[in-house]
Amino acid sequence: MEVDRDTATAQRPIRFLEDEQVHLQRSGLKLSDFDVRGTLGTGTFGRVLLVRHRTSASYPSSQNHFAMKVLRKTEIVRLRQVEHVNAERYILSRVSHPFVVDLFATFQDSLNIYMLMSYVPGGELFTHLRRARRFTPDVTRFYLATIILALKYLHSFNIIYRDLKPENLLLDARGYLRLTDFGFAKIVDDRTWTLCGTPEYLAPEIIQSDGHGKAADWWACGVLCYEMLVGYPPFFDESPYGIYEKILVGHIHWPRTMDHLSRDLIRAFLNPDRTKRLGNMNGGSQDILDHPWFRGVDWDALERREINVGT
Ligand code: ADE
Repeated sequence: MEVDRDTATAQRPIRFLEDEQVHLQRSGLKLSDFDVRGTLGTGTFGRVLLVRHRTSASYPSSQNHFAMKVLRKTEIVRLRQVEHVNAERYILSRVSHPFVVDLFATFQDSLNIYMLMSYVPGGELFTHLRRARRFTPDVTRFYLATIILALKYLHSFNIIYRDLKPENLLLDARGYLRLTDFGFAKIVDDRTWTLCGTPEYLAPEIIQSDGHGKAADWWACGVLCYEMLVGYPPFFDESPYGIYEKILVGHIHWPRTMDHLSRDLIRAFLNPDRTKRLGNMNGGSQDILDHPWFRGVDWDALERREINVGT
């Protein structure tokens, strides 16, 4: 990609990772290097565009199409999200995993921060799940196993993800999931206290402001597993407070069709005591990989993307 020093970065009143300048100066990219092909999603302070890099237009489309997250600086500041945006850039630029979206470059101009990511063409798992109503145990196992590998990888760098939900899981061209939206991801040695995430997926310790860490991601895995198998999340209400109450009461309705091994796995993830939660005990994430519900999963082959959905 060409380097053009004429990026509109003059008069930048807000400090976004100025000391780091992670990708900005090195990438030399600017918005006009891209054609906008459409909108992939919209969020509170930005949107994700499908873009094509102009000077590599002769490349196969899989190599010149990208997802570009555009974050409006004034909105980031107004919503006090500067730290989160910086953390997202910092973390995504340093991780590389087959089930995590790639961040190729970031740049900025006076209005926006731009994050150039791999275009993951299959849409959100959310859409697929609502369309299918629920997934079979085999399909659920395949998706959940990929997420567990991604979280295990992130946790090995003390990164907690904190926003697991079907909306943040994209399907790639081969049907594998890619974790996206690291807006709430954080590097923590032990625990952190900020309330963030999505009500249905919050662990009790987050709601109770008890300090949360990696275990909160494993709790969310339990919620995700239930939602994929059943079609709706285990703790559900009209209002966030109703949801929090249900999470704290901890009653789970088990559809009669759900087998005992699946219940056992979900119960182990949804242990309100994070010190006894699957993934957060002495065996760490290995306990999850060893759970009988995953019997037969070839974890190494899966991480090499040698296993296909439903097989
Ligand atoms: N929506 C949000 N991020 C995306 C990505 N990287 N690819 C496709 N759609 C997306």
